[in-house]
Amino acid sequence: MATQTTSPTEKSRGAFSSRKVFIFAAIGSAVGLGNIWRFPYVAYENGGGAFMIPYLVALLTAGIPFLFLDYALGHRFRGSAPLSFARLRRGAEGLGWWQVGICFLIAVYYAAVIAWALRYTFFSIDKAWGSDPNGYFFGDFLQAGDPGVTVDVVPGVLIPLILVWLVLIVVLVLGVQKGIGATAAIFIPILILAFGALVVRSLFLPGAAEGLNALFTPNWGALNEPGVWVAAFGQIFFSLSIGFGIMITYASYVDRDTDMVGSGLVVGFANSGFELLAGIGVFAALGFMAQASGVAVGDVAESGIGLAFVAFPAIISEAPAGALIGVLFFGSLVIAGLTSLISVIEVVVSAVRDKFELTRVTATLVVSIPATVISLVLFATTSGVYVLDIVDHFINQFGILLVAVVSMFVVAWVLRATPLLADHLNLTASVPIGLWWRALVMVITPLALAVVLVDAFRTDVQDAYEGYPGWMLGVFGWGGAAAVIVFGFLAAMIPWARSNALEDPGYPLPSGRHVQKGEQA
Ligand code: ALA
Repeated sequence: MATQTTSPTEKSRGAFSSRKVFIFAAIGSAVGLGNIWRFPYVAYENGGGAFMIPYLVALLTAGIPFLFLDYALGHRFRGSAPLSFARLRRGAEGLGWWQVGICFLIAVYYAAVIAWALRYTFFSIDKAWGSDPNGYFFGDFLQAGDPGVTVDVVPGVLIPLILVWLVLIVVLVLGVQKGIGATAAIFIPILILAFGALVVRSLFLPGAAEGLNALFTPNWGALNEPGVWVAAFGQIFFSLSIGFGIMITYASYVDRDTDMVGSGLVVGFANSGFELLAGIGVFAALGFMAQASGVAVGDVAESGIGLAFVAFPAIISEAPAGALIGVLFFGSLVIAGLTSLISVIEVVVSAVRDKFELTRVTATLVVSIPATVISLVLFATTSGVYVLDIVDHFINQFGILLVAVVSMFVVAWVLRATPLLADHLNLTASVPIGLWWRALVMVITPLALAVVLVDAFRTDVQDAYEGYPGWMLGVFGWGGAAAVIVFGFLAAMIPWARSNALEDPGYPLPSGRHVQKGEQA
């Protein structure tokens, strides 16, 4: 029986220097565009105050339990998503590669939104959009024509997008601690300060209370709509960075003695706290805008992309010290987005490293160069915004939520691994997880997710999403979601470069005994 706690290969994979750095990195991953850009409009469109109920239900019944599952897999099996699944059972490796494929697709469009935010941080200083933020965003800035695919490059997006990828490559080459950990440890406190200042500023704007009323006034009827529950589960998975390999990967870089349950609770509640803060800040500002233009808050709260890049510029133009609000808002989007994007692409880098035994530099380049090219070709062109909207919608539902439910089912019912994973978490847990976790992971969460997914599927089959042409939905929506599944199973067939890569790393107990798979702690 092995007695060493860390194999040389495990050491060379990299590690966070402390629990604190890991928590910063995990919060950095969780808090992203999903919190600032997505949550406020998703909450508003799905019942306002009443949305908090499905949101909390999704957080407690699916988000936190699934976060523990991801942590247990990565921390116990000490590998990227494919390696952790493969070490659990050789045949499960494809699930990990499916998650890797999802991350690749998310990364290529996520980078584009950060590039927009980067430009808008500077646009805020002289309010470049003039009197028509909507026309400016879609017309002057993105140069979007009719939905379709073009190869006409938009230089205003191309240049910041290249910059985003360069920054990303540098951080990833620097490694787990000096790159990922240090970036999060420096930028998350800055983000909290910048965003906190923005929220305080927004709350003092005239009309702020109206905005908060609009966000929090419950529309109880919404709770009867299945779509609202789909939105809540989708939001929780995307926002907590769970189900697509990120938390498995990060957990594999954490010291074996670390309390993963306590850390998960900190990360889960910090993420939701930030999300709520973002909702308050954004809607306080929208309330101001509504009052200034004499319209209802609903009329200024444009959905999705528009909320950040159309409504906010309008607020910046009107509000006292608007330029400051703009720099804080778009600067926060850039920071939050970058620390999340790092984690998304690290899932791919880490998987490629583990599988092919590459150095970090080589793996980063092997992953980032094609990702940059695809990102530029698809999203720095005049059709980029439409492709982005479609990929985002489909990959979240039929990528993240689907892989989450399938992997939960496989882990719990096919491999019957929940006792092993629960025992593992409890070795270091400050708050031991009990039967409740197993009940959630085995029954309640997969059932809830399955119901939610069936409804989402029915809706997207019946109605063309946002009225886009069928061929675009077929290629970028359904096609993208299907391609990552095929990729997952093909990638799993490639042999591992190191013949003993799938050996169980085991787990040392404080007593010195080393627990292997199948043994009880
Ligand atoms: N968790 C990240 C976000 O919320 C992906 O944007």
